[in-house]
Formats: sequence, C-alpha cells, structure tokens
Amino acid sequence: MKVNNVKYNINNVDEEVTLKGWVNKKRDLGGLIFIDLRDRSGLIQLVIKPESKVYESALTLKNEYVIEVTGKIVQREKANPNLKTGEIEVEVEDLIVLNKSEELPFEIDKNNSLEDTRLKYRYLDLRRESLQNNIITKHKIMQSTRNYLNNNDFIEIETPILCKSTPEGARDYLVPSRVNKGKFYALPQSPQIYKQLLMASGFEKYYQIARCFRDEDLRADRQPEFTQIDLEMSFADENDIMALTEGLLASIFKDVKGINISLPINRMTYDEAINLYGSDKPDLRFDMPIEDVTSILKDAAPMFTETVNNGGIINGLIVKDAADKYSRKDIDKLTDFVKIYKASGLAFLKYNEEFTGSIAKFMTGDITSSLKEKFNLQNNDLILIIFGNKKIVKNALGFLRLKLAKDLNLIKENEYKFVWITDFPMFEYSEEDERYIACHHPFTEPKDLNNLSDKENAKARAYDIVLNGYEIGGGSIRINNPEMQEKVLEELGFTKERAQDSFGFLLDALKYGMPPEGGLALGLERLTMILCGTENIRDVIAFPKTASASCLMSGAPNTVSTESLDELNIKIKE
Ligand code: AMO
Repeated sequence: MKVNNVKYNINNVDEEVTLKGWVNKKRDLGGLIFIDLRDRSGLIQLVIKPESKVYESALTLKNEYVIEVTGKIVQREKANPNLKTGEIEVEVEDLIVLNKSEELPFEIDKNNSLEDTRLKYRYLDLRRESLQNNIITKHKIMQSTRNYLNNNDFIEIETPILCKSTPEGARDYLVPSRVNKGKFYALPQSPQIYKQLLMASGFEKYYQIARCFRDEDLRADRQPEFTQIDLEMSFADENDIMALTEGLLASIFKDVKGINISLPINRMTYDEAINLYGSDKPDLRFDMPIEDVTSILKDAAPMFTETVNNGGIINGLIVKDAADKYSRKDIDKLTDFVKIYKASGLAFLKYNEEFTGSIAKFMTGDITSSLKEKFNLQNNDLILIIFGNKKIVKNALGFLRLKLAKDLNLIKENEYKFVWITDFPMFEYSEEDERYIACHHPFTEPKDLNNLSDKENAKARAYDIVLNGYEIGGGSIRINNPEMQEKVLEELGFTKERAQDSFGFLLDALKYGMPPEGGLALGLERLTMILCGTENIRDVIAFPKTASASCLMSGAPNTVSTESLDELNIKIKE
C-alpha cells in the first residue's frame, strides 16, 4: 500500500478512492463537516454532508483520530492554493474509525510549546511536517551516498559496535562485559582503526554509514551519538580523496536539492584560515577577512608598542558602511562579546573624513593615510581592533566576524560555500590533559617526519571539508608503516609498552603489507542540518538526546537493578 493522499489532483475528479490517515483538523460548519486528512505525503480535504450516512460518526471525530474513508473526488468550489490537493476534496461516503486519540499535549503544527514537552512526546512531534521533511532529507542523503559510492566501486562493510577502549580522542562510552568480569567494551568514536584494517585486508574501497559515540560536551551541532558517512581508500592520496568527496557532495546536492555545486572546491591551508578568518571552519558566505595592522599601528600608542614587544599582534576587522549602525553602547556590547573569547578589549575607529572612536587620538597624519590606503576607507566605515596574544586575537576576531555578519544580515540564505582546509597541525595542546594530543588522530601521516618534535609547527596530511562555517567532514592520509606509527605515538607520549597495549593490533597489521591509504568521514547530521536550513542538530535526528545527553522520552540513561549490576560485578559508589 502506498502513502498516497497527495497523489490526487484535479485530473482525478469523479474517481472513487479509499484514504487512510489522521484527522489533522476538523471544522464543523453546522451543516457541512470538513476534515483535513493527513498522511506522510500531506493533507487532503474531506467533506461530509448532513445527509451522509456517516454524518453522526463524523461528528464524533477529534484531532489525531486515525480513520479510513471512501468517497468520490470532486472539484472544490474555492481552491486552496496553499495545498497540493487544494483544487479538490473527497465527498465521504464511508468512514471507519481505525483508532481514537486523546487530546495531544501540544498542537502539532504550532511551534509554541516547550522543546522539553516536544522531546518527551517525540513520536508526536515527529508528526510535524517540517521534522518529517528533515528526516526524509536525511534518508535521501543516505540513498544518494550509497548510490554514488556503490557506482564508484566502494563496498559497504559493517564494523563492531563493541570495541576496545583506546586512550585517544574524546571520552569513550563504556559497556561492561558480563562474561569477562571487570572488563569493558567501548562504543566506537568512529570506525577509524577498523577501516584501516580493512585496507590491510585488501578491500581497497570501503564505506559505511556508521553510528559513532562520543562522551563529550554537547553543542548545537554535536550529539553523543551521531552518524558518519565513513570512507577509506587504498592507493589514494589527498587529491584522490578530495576528488571523490567532491563527487559525492555534488551528487548529494543534485539528488536531494537539485543544486549543481561548482567543482573543484577551493582549498585553503589551516594557517591561512586562522590568519584570515580566525577559524579552521570559516564561513565564506561573506567576506570581511581579518586585517593585520600590526606594522601600521605598532608605534601609534604605548599599549600597541608593548603588545608588539611582547610578541603580540594588532589585528582588526573593517566593517564597510556601518559606523552609524554602532552606537557607543553597541560597541560596549561587542566589547563584552569579545571578552568571552579572552580578548582584553576592543578598540574602534569610525571614519567620516576623519577618525573618531576610542583610539582616534593616536591617529596621526601618517597613520591615517596608511589606514585609508590599506582599507580604501570611505565615510561611515568602522574599524574594530583587538591586540595581544596571536591565538586570542585571531580567535576573538573570528567570532566577532560571525557576530557582525549575523547582526548586519550579511549572510545570504540558500547559499552554499564549501572550502577545503588543508595542512592541519599534527598536534594541538590540550589544556585539560596538559599535554600535546593529535590534532586529527594518531594514525595521521605527518607532512615531514623530521620536524615532529616541533610540536607547534609540525603539519599533518589532514584535511577538513567546511560548508557555511560548519566542519562537515575530516580525514587524512594514514601512516602505513610501523616505525612511523611508533614514532608518532612516541611523540604523543606513549611508551613502547603502552603503544603496544593500546594499538598493538594496528601496529602488527602495519607490518604485513599495508597499502598506502587514506580516507575521510562526513558528519551526516551536520550535512543534513545545512540542507534542511536548521541550526539545531536535534531537528535532524529522529530520537535525539538533550544537552545533558539524556532522552526525555524514554528516560535513558537510567539506573538498573542491583541484580543486573551484580551480574556484571559492578558496585555503584555512593
Ligand atoms: P572527525 O572526528 O573529524 O573524524 O569526525 C568526522 C565528522 O563527524 C562529524 N562529527 C560530529 N557530528 C555530530 N556530533 C558529534 N559529536 C560529532 N563529532 C564529529 C563532524 C566531523 O567533521 N575517523 C575520523 C575520520 C577520518 O579520518 O577518516 C573522524 O572521526 O562533521
């Protein structure tokens, strides 16, 4: 049986049809009863006349009752242009109530109730058209992915969900073993090591639409369990993987949205991205790069000179034709905003033939003309400046850039700006662990094995694909020999024994003819979010978790019985 309400139109007038679905809305006009019948495909209007034998029964219908009707399609007196089926209605002759419904805890198609209530009754919220469309879009992305990768010789292979806990990356979700008391499995953070092992096995091209689990702090684009379009290719270098990924994205955009994306996608190194946009996932739907004014301003005022003498930088943003849009109070708010990102403050200049603003008094003739020339200054331009430690300055300006674009409506809707970010650092300093960790993962090949000990500057053969300011995917070329892998693990602080204990199975595999290989994983939910135009990852997951990683509908995670714990030999600390 097909989901079929909206397949009917004016060409079907006089046909006798049987339809099933939910009462979306009933209107009793004191004579005629109108019902909007809903199924997954949409709405169709039913009409029940007073003389109908099912009139009494129709009077008892309430919203969300499940019904089956038989009747004739007729042309509506007044068409409803907002409905696909707006030109017709069905004159009901027979009506069967398949099931009743209590009054719902919220109105489905009104977005006016608390998200917590909607999450508690997620199965009802999922009756909402916008959520159904999101879930269907995700389905289409998965179908398009499978088609494209199958046609490119990839093999879909499942990898274990009960894995070995390894000490890198985010925190693992652990599962106690009943059979092996005191031991634990970890849920996979990604199928990374398995897909490398499949290359060792000779599968050459692997993919999986893989569930991944990470016990990390949640954000609007992060869930504890999420899905990756995960792929790996033997005998491939960066260009092969990027070309394949571009083809995949093009095919998804074409199949799902009917949009042709222009290829190849631009590339930018990590260093360029940080310098110009203060982020390794720059939103390029608008321009406004970060400008370096260190050399122009360094002698303008003692605070600038001091900054530069301490190894700091002076950078800014030029906001065209916006000086009149920012009052002193607004600038104070921007200052509070950049302080969230540890900037010491925000200096500003407004240009109108001459400068006004917090540092205007330092703008002598030479400096003014240098700034005018550098920025091609026009009246009503605004310059916002942060100075200090390079990392802090770039990061704060990166966030300020995004805020300004939002405030000033600089981001066009329905625009898709992709960029590859390449040459990622090999390591990053983790404040939490107080040591360097792998920036991508420890199996990523370094660009140059000889400068690995220069932790701040060593680069990796790693790349991310970024869309509209979201990191939608990342990957790398993998280490394929044991010596190099051991060396990298050593740089990450692993002793030989600990490396063997944690990753021995991979180190062994590298000894038996591991092909050169690499891969990438796309975040399925992030891609779906962008294609659905939502900023909330929960909108694209059928049964999502809250910010505290719980499920308001089922009550997971929950306590379990003492018997279950005893069986696992586990005791909960008070
Ligand atoms: P990475 O950790 O970069 O790489 O993950 C790949 C992509 O998965 C998405 N993603 C998430 N989406 C939602 N919620 C999360 N918590 C979450 N974490 C990550 C992002 C990200 O770009 N094994 C490597 C890939 C490889 O090297 O082939 C990996 O997992 O879109």
